[in-house]
Amino acid sequence: MTATDATQVSLDLRDIVQEYPQRDGTGTVRVIDGISLHLERPGIVMLLGPSGCGKSTLLHMMGGVRPIGTKTPTQGEVLIDGVPCHGAHDDVVMVFQRYANRPDLSVRENVAFPFRLKCWRERVPKAEAEQRVDAMIDAVGLGGHRNHLPSQLSGGQNQRVALARALVLRPRILLMDEPFGALDAQTRAEMQTLLVQLYEQNPCLIVFVTHDVTEALTLGDRVLVMSTAPAKIADDFAILEPRPRSSAWQRSTEAVRLEERILDQLHAKSSRRGSVTVSI
Ligand SMILES: Nc1ncnc2c1ncn2[C@@H]1O[C@H](COP(=O)(O)OP(=O)(O)O)[C@@H](O)[C@H]1O
Ligand SMILES: [Mg+2]
Repeated sequence: MTATDATQVSLDLRDIVQEYPQRDGTGTVRVIDGISLHLERPGIVMLLGPSGCGKSTLLHMMGGVRPIGTKTPTQGEVLIDGVPCHGAHDDVVMVFQRYANRPDLSVRENVAFPFRLKCWRERVPKAEAEQRVDAMIDAVGLGGHRNHLPSQLSGGQNQRVALARALVLRPRILLMDEPFGALDAQTRAEMQTLLVQLYEQNPCLIVFVTHDVTEALTLGDRVLVMSTAPAKIADDFAILEPRPRSSAWQRSTEAVRLEERILDQLHAKSSRRGSVTVSI
């Protein structure tokens, strides 16, 4: 790994509470209940939890994405490098399951899109931006598709475009919200391998939301398991096995125990509502 001190980053959540207005307008519902976390680069942190528990809410908060009309977070603070963060941050880039590629733009134009924004035009000289775009398209394996439109690409290839558009900015923090959730199993495995390769070339802090236990064990240096209604961090553990993790390791006693540990926590949600066990 080639991370240098100059590119270290820390992301802290302090006593985060999130409440949303109830649909019938009668009050508020508490979705996140006092989550505090310290995350550092480099590393791949997997955020795992049942559907609807608040994973996207927490990830969006880390990225400074605010839902319209709702104070986010309701209480608490997000800090990057120890500085409270009240909105979008240049060091943070997000990748979503819906890859958000512009249908009218080619692969190359989609990957180059962030450099249309004033802040990135000012930061990265044009020649360097073009060189980075071309290198990143090659790195994600789309060298033969530069001029294709998204409609001419598969789902996996479209997600490669989205990944390239994020990484071309060389973010210190990359937030990924179930990015491979809509892909078939083989394409998903290919994308996981690609992500690990790209990460090894340019280590950053990746926070990766998934509800897939195998994905968490394949990618994570650290796994955070969320409970639900309202969410807390119910489990938090490290995986020291180097990547890429072999299928032999995936079948090992260690991996099977970790899988059981996560599944126990996920399935405990209904019986432990309101009284969450924290076992860090
Ligand atoms: N902007 C919003 N307004 C009201 N409720 C919301 C809003 N965003 C999310 N929720 C609710 O908060 C809960 C957690 O949502 P979310 O963070 O998307 O969960 P996950 O990503 O884990 O599936 C859900 O019950 C969802 O309906
Ligand atoms: Mg979500």
